[in-house]
Amino acid sequence: METVLSGIRSTGHMHLGNYFGALRNFVKIQDTYNCFFFIADLHSLTTHPHPDDFHANVKIILSEYLAAGLDPEKCALYVQSDVPEISELYVLLNMIAYVGELERTTTFKDKVRLNPNNVNAGLLTYPVLMASDILSHRANWVPVGKDQEPHLEIARVLARRFNNTYGVELFPEPYAFNFGHDLVKVPGLDGSGKMGKSEGNGIYLIDDDKTITRKVMHAVTDSGPTEPDSEMSEPVANIFTLMKLVSDPDIVRQFEAAYADCSIRYGDLKKQLAADICKTVAPIRERIGSIYNDDAYLSKVVATGRDKARASASATLKLAQQAIGFRTF
Ligand code: TRP
Repeated sequence: METVLSGIRSTGHMHLGNYFGALRNFVKIQDTYNCFFFIADLHSLTTHPHPDDFHANVKIILSEYLAAGLDPEKCALYVQSDVPEISELYVLLNMIAYVGELERTTTFKDKVRLNPNNVNAGLLTYPVLMASDILSHRANWVPVGKDQEPHLEIARVLARRFNNTYGVELFPEPYAFNFGHDLVKVPGLDGSGKMGKSEGNGIYLIDDDKTITRKVMHAVTDSGPTEPDSEMSEPVANIFTLMKLVSDPDIVRQFEAAYADCSIRYGDLKKQLAADICKTVAPIRERIGSIYNDDAYLSKVVATGRDKARASASATLKLAQQAIGFRTF
């Protein structure tokens, strides 16, 4: 069985983009692949979260993974820092990662531009840590968006370089996994681009009905179609894209027809969208609440996940150490 692995950094809540782009699909592949899903708490340290928030942030993502339907019996659901073998592999991989190639990574250059005062070494080697996440379980597939492609490329380079340097076939080259269809790009409510944490344009899985409705009613649109069958502007097309994710196809067709014959009222469109998003989010939000407060359950889940992940990562680490030449006395 092939291995699929993905991680989410513990920086804030998951939004509809995470849900429709990732989580919902993770749930569907739990039986078909050997799945590893984890909370990348070490990666979140690049931005120096406050110690008072650090644990709660991990707990939030864990609860949201579970509320979305991940089954900790079927997959390995774990916290990155609970698996020290990942950090140990990271040390080893750092020795074959070149500063030049890390500096040239587009995601690193973006971070430097956005945050010139916090260019720490962890940021430079962020892709090496991510490669360690992936290679620790010798994963074949990594379901991530286009923004993570440069990191996956580094994981492949390091896998290849390790194998060649030490004359082994230890690490398979990991590739992006798209669930057999084009990845859905979930747009934000600000008229352009995709839903993101830092963009402030998202609907979160913990948002209540009132918050969701307020956000949707404020979504950017345009002044409305003036000619029949005119092309939609990006903000309006985005509303329809969201609607296709949560609304009944007949309802979507009805609004598309209304757009085409210029009878559409954006207020009605948004009201419908808000109601259907609420219907999708409400049960997940309720589950998040009860899971988040069930410490006994969470500690059991985390222990199970840790044991599975450590078993897999320590087997890989041993083979890597062997290849490098470590021997026990
Ligand atoms: N860098 C990823 C992100 O920001 C999170 C991540 C860390 C990850 N390690 C990973 C994703 C390993 C996939 C595989 O979204």
